[in-house]
Amino acid sequence: MLREERTFIAVKPDGVKRGLVGEIVRRFERKGFKLIGIKMLDVTPEMAEKHYGEHKGKPFYPRLIEYIQSGPIVAMVWKGYDVIHGARVIMGSTKPNEAQVGTIRADFALVKEYNVVHGSDSEESAEREIAIYFNENEICDEYDNMAEIVIEKIDD
Ligand code: RTP
Ligand code: MG
Repeated sequence: MLREERTFIAVKPDGVKRGLVGEIVRRFERKGFKLIGIKMLDVTPEMAEKHYGEHKGKPFYPRLIEYIQSGPIVAMVWKGYDVIHGARVIMGSTKPNEAQVGTIRADFALVKEYNVVHGSDSEESAEREIAIYFNENEICDEYDNMAEIVIEKIDD
């Protein structure tokens, strides 16, 4: 069986305000990734600091903390084969004008300060970020979805 991963994805406040939640969910869903957690929430200052702690001290940090609290986010956990990397490919580069056409950031964003979506960049940060936003009893992994069919086809 190919190894499955989990990743933390969030529609950032600009994405929520612009009505892009459905569009963003759709892109991960149709790829074959499995949605195992989703909720809307206002990020607290404590959550923001935990989430973006790695950027503390950088010039853009205060604006980033303000941005992630500028409205509700839609927090999600997605599961699937190579989902951490695969989700970041679907999202596109941090700078939207350098992102590949067809990615979320290329299609819906202009500047890196408002790039509509977040995705974990490693297994370690995925588990760390999931734990900031979700309790394990909020994760619904006990159902079959298309992702398992897709993986079955490429598994020996
Ligand atoms: P994210 O964590 O949000 O998925 O984005 P990322 O991995 O592509 O980029 P990262 O380097 O982790 O930066 C986190 C977020 O900070 C904002 N940022 N602003 N003004 C700047 O130079 C700058 N650099 C990064 C972006 O919103 C970026 O997504
Ligand atoms: Mg990042």
